[in-house]
Amino acid sequence: MTEFRLTQISDTHLARRLPLLSDNFAKLSDHLDATRPDLVVNTGDVAFDGPAGPEDLEFARTLHEALPVPCRYLPGNHDIGDNPTQACPNPKQAVTEKDRQAFISVFGDDRWRFEAAGWCFVGLNSLVMNSGLISEAEQFDWLACELASANGKPVALFLHKPLFLNAPDDPELAATAIRYVPMPARRRLVEMLRNVNLRLVASGHVHQRRDFTYRGVRHVWAPSTGFVIPDRMQDVIGIKEVGLVEYRFQPDGFEVRHLRAPGQADVWLDDLFAPAT
Ligand SMILES: [Fe+2]
Ligand SMILES: [Fe+2]
Repeated sequence: MTEFRLTQISDTHLARRLPLLSDNFAKLSDHLDATRPDLVVNTGDVAFDGPAGPEDLEFARTLHEALPVPCRYLPGNHDIGDNPTQACPNPKQAVTEKDRQAFISVFGDDRWRFEAAGWCFVGLNSLVMNSGLISEAEQFDWLACELASANGKPVALFLHKPLFLNAPDDPELAATAIRYVPMPARRRLVEMLRNVNLRLVASGHVHQRRDFTYRGVRHVWAPSTGFVIPDRMQDVIGIKEVGLVEYRFQPDGFEVRHLRAPGQADVWLDDLFAPAT
């Protein structure tokens, strides 16, 4: 295969009780039917509230299984709970092994690695980082093995939370620490990635579209497919819109295309819970 076409979706936040999000997902499905990428990766917050019970996870799986293309999944904080940070040690809903296992039982492994078009693709569970759960240490051990066998191939990393705002040593602030991979796990991860030919870090979580390059590595923040967060609740960093990201990987490079599916609407968080009129 000389070209691998991958579509990244993120923060679908699906739940049967939130039809506006299902409407946007249906527009996405039509677009995937028309474009037929080799793979769709959902970079997390697949369901609206996984830790509350299995319903949202199962609803999200049903909609994804109906897509006309193969999918891989990574967990978000709304799927398995959030990670503690040095600035906010007690997230409202902390990640647990039980919720991680619930996600895996519905969507498959929460970390994965495969190769295509001369590239090595790695997906990580960013929510166990800094959690102290056994699976955090297991994932780092697993990652070390997988990266050791990359053999100089270009590496594309997928995970729910962005690694950082602008640089690996950005300080953790109480108001925004939950937005990024927390320290000290971030430092360890960045160190491990320094030894491979990392070219792309693709994340979700922030519900804003962003695309920047730091020291030769492209960082792509996929927007939510479902909704955007008002400025009174979240500062503007990139572009607040719904949409998706398309990639074309070839052995000697890759292309990134930012777009929205025809008919996808900018639903705002407030709209989700507004009574129908
Ligand atoms: Fe989200
Ligand atoms: Fe998230």
